[in-house]
Amino acid sequence: MASIGLDNIVKAYGSLEVIHGVSVDIEDGDFVVLVGPSGCGKSTLLRMIAGLEDITAGTLSIGGTIVNNLPPKKRNIAMVFQNYALYPHMTVGQNMGFSLKLGGVPKAEIGRKVQAAAEVLGLSALLDRFPGQLSGGQRQRVAMGRAIVRDPQVFLFDEPLSNLDAKLRVVMRAEIKSLQASLGTTTVYVTHDQVEAMTMADKIVVMNEGRVEQIGSPLKLFNTPDNVFVASFIGSPVMNFIPGIVTTAGTGPTFLSGDLRLPLPHLPHGVPKETDVILGIRPQYWRRDPTGFEAQAEVIEPTGSETQLELSMQGHRLTVVLHEQLEVRRGDKVPLLPDFDKMLFFDAASHRRIA
Ligand SMILES: Nc1ncnc2c1ncn2[C@@H]1O[C@H](COP(=O)(O)OP(=O)(O)OP(=O)(O)O)[C@@H](O)[C@H]1O
Ligand SMILES: [Mg+2]
Repeated sequence: MASIGLDNIVKAYGSLEVIHGVSVDIEDGDFVVLVGPSGCGKSTLLRMIAGLEDITAGTLSIGGTIVNNLPPKKRNIAMVFQNYALYPHMTVGQNMGFSLKLGGVPKAEIGRKVQAAAEVLGLSALLDRFPGQLSGGQRQRVAMGRAIVRDPQVFLFDEPLSNLDAKLRVVMRAEIKSLQASLGTTTVYVTHDQVEAMTMADKIVVMNEGRVEQIGSPLKLFNTPDNVFVASFIGSPVMNFIPGIVTTAGTGPTFLSGDLRLPLPHLPHGVPKETDVILGIRPQYWRRDPTGFEAQAEVIEPTGSETQLELSMQGHRLTVVLHEQLEVRRGDKVPLLPDFDKMLFFDAASHRRIA
């Protein structure tokens, strides 16, 4: 087990720079998730930690030692890929023990380690099967077993669940999380799925175009995103963003956007008056209230316990999730009140959060 330090890491392919100075401190035993849109550099960063890509500039340390020039084999890292990369002609047991065999570990010890890992992963009965005789989830477990037997100081995962169906993903997500917690092995996990990031991570690193947008716990990123990018990336459905201004001209503190007037209980601290801002409010932070603002339902999506609505409110498109079953039809008027304490304000020019 070990800490990992990324200090101002840069990656260029020829003249094309794709990682522009990324710094992240990962503590021993942490479960860190790198999340961001396709092409933002997640896999590249992970491959640099594994030693599969050169580091153009900056320093990478593992366990306090700089490893920029250490070959992958010497880093004591195990990586699990999206496609599992199992050997089809080897049994489950042989697949799991293969790296140990290559490393010259005695046969009896390989057997013991494979048995132990198989037990943890619920694969004991499947050791003599071939990968082609396994379900997707079982294959995923074998790929993890192969990583576990090596008893590495770091686990790296690159989208390990993306080939599984939605239900199995949820199961495996919990399995990986609890396995990591019991082994206590420092883990870096890459995904573009923010739900996976939220549910699995101790700490999330949100990346965008080769840069880090924000690092923090799942709830920190959800409650206090640094900017519009993080606010829109974390949370589902996506946060509502309404450009406008805050003014006290007239009756009292009010958010104005075209025909939409939202009276505010007080002037939000840190928000300059009469200046272009973006109001952000999550779909979950609205409720039905007879004194609310009228919105017209456009799309109604009941999920059983909740109702998700797309509405138009004074010319603005709004997504709302109500924690109730609702008999609403397209075109119906729904009076809605936002939770003022949950409103976020961003500077319209820089997109940084100001309140
Ligand atoms: N060998 C390469 N040569 C040139 N450019 C590359 C190479 N590998 C990756 N890139 C570029 O680097 C950027 C980051 O790629 P990377 O694979 O790290 O993205 P990612 O965040 O893992 O995306 P995804 O979610 O699609 O897997 C992309 O713009 C990609 O085109
Ligand atoms: Mg990738």
